[in-house]
Amino acid sequence: MDIQITTQAAPQIQCDALIVSAAQDKGHGLQFSSVAIAINDVLNGLLDELVADGEFKGAVGELLTLHPMGRIPAKRVVVVGLGDRERITIQTLQRSAATAARHLQATGARHIVLAMQWSGGEISALQSMQAQVEGALLGLYTFRHYQHRDEPAQGVTRLQLFSDGLNQDEVEQAISRGRIMAEATNLARDLVNEPPNILTPTELANRASAMAREVGLECEVFDRAKIEELQMGGLLGVTRGSAEPPRFIVLRYRGAPEQGNKGMALVGKGITFDSGGISIKPAAGMDEMKGDMGGAAAVIGAMRAIALLKPHINVTGLVPTCENMPDGASYHPGDILRIMNGKTIEIVNTDAEGRLILADALSYATREGLSPIIDLATLTGGIVVALGTVMTGLFCNNEQLTQQILRAGQLAGEKYWPMPLDDEYREQIKSEIADIKQTGGRPASSVTAAKILENFVGDAQSTQWAHLDIAGTSYIEDKKAYQEKGGTGVGVRTLATLVLMRSA
Ligand code: BES
Ligand code: ZN
Ligand code: ZN
Repeated sequence: MDIQITTQAAPQIQCDALIVSAAQDKGHGLQFSSVAIAINDVLNGLLDELVADGEFKGAVGELLTLHPMGRIPAKRVVVVGLGDRERITIQTLQRSAATAARHLQATGARHIVLAMQWSGGEISALQSMQAQVEGALLGLYTFRHYQHRDEPAQGVTRLQLFSDGLNQDEVEQAISRGRIMAEATNLARDLVNEPPNILTPTELANRASAMAREVGLECEVFDRAKIEELQMGGLLGVTRGSAEPPRFIVLRYRGAPEQGNKGMALVGKGITFDSGGISIKPAAGMDEMKGDMGGAAAVIGAMRAIALLKPHINVTGLVPTCENMPDGASYHPGDILRIMNGKTIEIVNTDAEGRLILADALSYATREGLSPIIDLATLTGGIVVALGTVMTGLFCNNEQLTQQILRAGQLAGEKYWPMPLDDEYREQIKSEIADIKQTGGRPASSVTAAKILENFVGDAQSTQWAHLDIAGTSYIEDKKAYQEKGGTGVGVRTLATLVLMRSA
């Protein structure tokens, strides 16, 4: 994608479509971007007339298309609604840009100019620029590698960002950040969308190592022998039923070499297909369990963004990956597994596999002395019941880190909701014969899952830890105006933003 700045006067801009915006200003009608006002003037008040006739209300994501018929060089002008001006967030800007860009791509546009120009409240003009670039690139995303087409797939190949009165270098930096964030998110989406016969644990490791080579990260991939040597009993237990060998992926970014081996850890659940194993899942919707590596995808995407953004901090990405399959060799309900840190877990349901492979990865991160440790996992159906597809569940043993993640989420356009880690929930995961029981039953199942993970990180004083349950947010079943069905890439931008916030 070719992305540039344009400082041309709005009525002179030549393109397939010019995207402008309108926010609702309570009691004062609509507030148009200055480019929209200039276009309205050249077109003798066409926009005012359409609004007066009730054609456009400016609701979030609402589109109004104008055809100037040669009166200006832009072939079309699309006005996108931003909704109530008091409620505009970075996510609003991203999704509005995405909706407009996606709509235009579907109608054949190749060259788009973004002139939404919103800033105000807590959002600066540069953040708005970044959000527009992110939004457009996220909205233009498609996954069609496996589909034959009669016509060659065309799409938007050129984006220009309208910028007046801003420092060009700063705008360039905002564009570059936006591009890095969006492309890393789209990489994570690709990984989630790949079918499980292609994206095996081996292939996931190959993709991670190819990415690492491309952007200059260190990458180590542990095979079964090494995983056995490390005594990762959770990963070895879950992988038993699969014909595919397990992998443990380590990605290292050393942005602060003087800090030695200290730094942050990002850990992602990498189940490339979750059939449930012996505790097999119902057939309906099982295909979506190709996305049970959404946490791994987020970590791999975030590590790519971090490598390109070059913050002054060390970050290690860890991905335990395998399949969860039924077989004569599968692990059973009733088994007791010994995790890398020595703790034992009584298995009651082989479908609760994510916490087992994460237990090994968290033990590994803790043994390396990494802090904070942030894990991401499509961990529980319970979080989908609690928060749906709108917000990611955030479990954290440190209040300051909680606030940082919430803030990083706002800046990244992703929503998180704090969930409890109260010790009374430990009652539910007491075992009669092992150190802990694998599941705590239906009540608060997302919380008890998090409480299990807590056993594998150091205490809150030595190790700051956050667990993000993305089971509801990493995959959408129904397409939206701003995004197609499939992986969302959730977590990538929040993690990269969090790392930037903590670097400085
Ligand atoms: N991968 C699933 C969780 C999931 C559910 C992800 C829906 C995405 C959408 C996980 O491995 C699982 O099956 N969890 C079970 C655990 C239960 C058996 C204790 C759950 O939460 O229902
Ligand atoms: Zn499962
Ligand atoms: Zn799973």
